[in-house]
Amino acid sequence: MKMHLDEKIWLGLSFGMIMIFMLITGYQGFALEMGPPSHKETIDPQKVDQTAPFDQPGIKQIGENEYEVVMTLQIFSFNPANIEVPAGSTVHFTMTSKDVVHGFQVANTNLNAMVMPGHITKITQKFDKPGKYLVLCNEYCGAGHQVMSTTITVK
Ligand code: CUA
Repeated sequence: MKMHLDEKIWLGLSFGMIMIFMLITGYQGFALEMGPPSHKETIDPQKVDQTAPFDQPGIKQIGENEYEVVMTLQIFSFNPANIEVPAGSTVHFTMTSKDVVHGFQVANTNLNAMVMPGHITKITQKFDKPGKYLVLCNEYCGAGHQVMSTTITVK
């Protein structure tokens, strides 16, 4: 089969472009580590309940104004739910999902994370202003997604 020269040129160009895109994406993903930075630690999603620290989800004081929250997300709840911390607290969240991808978004803060099964998400937030903060799942996770919410109360 004979190809026209311009066909060959276009074929070469489009192939070249695909290679360039793949190289750029690969470079960004691996060399620059532009992938999700908080998803480096992994966990067996089948064994969340048996794996520390998720075998004991809850809130723990770890410093004068510092708390650690170990949280599991599952359809369609946050565990622990309805967290309370004093105003001025820095809270370190360590989270994973026991089933599907969920979101962890706290209204009126910059807190917004994706929580995936098999991965551990760590985020830290200081809560200065007292109030009741609504926590929402912002990743569609099934029929109960709309009702998947809880609160963080800052006193
Ligand atoms: Cu969990 Cu949407």
